[in-house]
Amino acid sequence: MKILMVCLGNICRSPLAHGIMESLVEKHGLNWEVDSAGTGNWHIGEAPDSRSIAIAKKYGVDISKQCCRQFRVSDFDYYDRIYVMDKSNLADVLNLARNMADEEKVKLLLDTEVVPDPYYDHKLFDPVYQMIKRGCERIIPGN
Ligand code: 4NP
Repeated sequence: MKILMVCLGNICRSPLAHGIMESLVEKHGLNWEVDSAGTGNWHIGEAPDSRSIAIAKKYGVDISKQCCRQFRVSDFDYYDRIYVMDKSNLADVLNLARNMADEEKVKLLLDTEVVPDPYYDHKLFDPVYQMIKRGCERIIPGN
């Protein structure tokens, strides 16, 4: 299984989803591939936001080596599932879908809830981490 986590900037939320999912995949001995990307292009090549690195580190997950990239249409071919954080990410990714098969790969990480953008509110990083962890745990088979 190949999973892509997507948010707007690929520096706050999707790097957390990427790191948390990778740690769960390892913990459960799954041979899955995980990556993340942003719909926007502002931060390409950058490491995650220092506040995301810090909150992940607090809970034992190292995301410091990740490197921001932009979502590309070919991601629809490579990945089996594409998880987005909020409805605007959902609209942006679906807008790039070429057909129904592409569309069917795209889901909100939390299904009925949205993961808020913490970029302008540092107090959101801890609750966002917890929400993303809950979403990632649901993806593990048997959960
Ligand atoms: P993210 O947060 O989508 O969770 O990575 C953001 C990071 C940067 C920007 C927006 C959202 N930005 O506009 O630069």
